[in-house]
Amino acid sequence: MRIETDVTRLLGIDLPILQAGMSWASSCTALPLAVSRAGGLGVLAAGPMYIDALEQCIDEIKAGTDKPFAVNMPLYRKGAEEVLDLLEAKRIPAIIASQGGPKKYLDRFKAIGTKCIHVVAGEEHAVKAMNAGVDGLVVVGGEAGGHPPPSLVSTLVLVRAVSKVTGGRIPLIASGGFADGRGLLAALSLGAGAANFGTRFMATPEANVSDGYKQAVLNAGVSDTRTVGNGLGMIRAIGNRFTERMLELEGQGADIESRKDVFMAATLKMAAFDGDVEEGKLEAGQSTGLVDRVMPAAEVVEEIASDYVRALQELPSAVG
Ligand SMILES: Cc1cc2nc3c(=O)[nH]c(=O)nc-3n(C[C@H](O)[C@H](O)[C@H](O)COP(=O)(O)O)c2cc1C
Repeated sequence: MRIETDVTRLLGIDLPILQAGMSWASSCTALPLAVSRAGGLGVLAAGPMYIDALEQCIDEIKAGTDKPFAVNMPLYRKGAEEVLDLLEAKRIPAIIASQGGPKKYLDRFKAIGTKCIHVVAGEEHAVKAMNAGVDGLVVVGGEAGGHPPPSLVSTLVLVRAVSKVTGGRIPLIASGGFADGRGLLAALSLGAGAANFGTRFMATPEANVSDGYKQAVLNAGVSDTRTVGNGLGMIRAIGNRFTERMLELEGQGADIESRKDVFMAATLKMAAFDGDVEEGKLEAGQSTGLVDRVMPAAEVVEEIASDYVRALQELPSAVG
């Protein structure tokens, strides 16, 4: 199946379905490879990876498919320059950069034909990145797992606001809360040319997180996530002992230093790798409440596409 949009044309993919870059969950070969093979865009998350492991995954994905894939690159990460050198040497098809300005990578990657996508969380940031010359924007709204915008403005409103200020001059990928075919239809209605799916792809055998984490994603309802760590790099995560402790401190008006100690003591790795679902950061979006099955990533792509077509057919047509 093909669903053509400005984003699929930009990236050379069949479907406007991006598997969001997710530290740990997509810091592996299996998930991005399966999604790219299925006609979406698989995204390898470089954030927590050692450089040799990252190189190995890129080589494995290239060996496994001729289809495009991307690497998500948090520009703040330790050793960012060395990672950018590797990504340039590997001539990756697309880079999705977050948490920093596009100047750090844009010219060198455009020069070798890598598509440069920048993650933004507000209109001003979006216009700046567009004017700097990036090829596309991922617009992350408040529903998202991981790091939603501190304003927590919903994806519903933010994508339309960004679409308004960018006026069709740049392809947009909507991120946060989509999860299924109806979500994809909604994203395209808001002015985006694709949707980014994070939490949905955590419930796949390919996602590189513990079984306990996947089970927590299945168990949680739409109101079971919490946003904690305001001012410290706020996250949205499934509620557990760690988020309760953070919320208690925030409720008491605790100063940033004491909140920071608790916030930094818990990590995503503890949940993803060690399976500590009470003390780790169980990052997930509100759409965790829409996810009720673990299924292979390729089937997730197929199901999103076919549900999109069905949902589109069910829309009322205008009369008169
Ligand atoms: C476990 C987890 C880890 C994430 N890690 C990253 C990351 O390393 N880099 C990044 O740009 N976004 C990261 N995100 C955010 C996603 O790219 C995406 O914006 C978000 O998952 C979309 O919302 P959804 O989960 O409702 O689909 C992460 C999200 C989750 C759930």
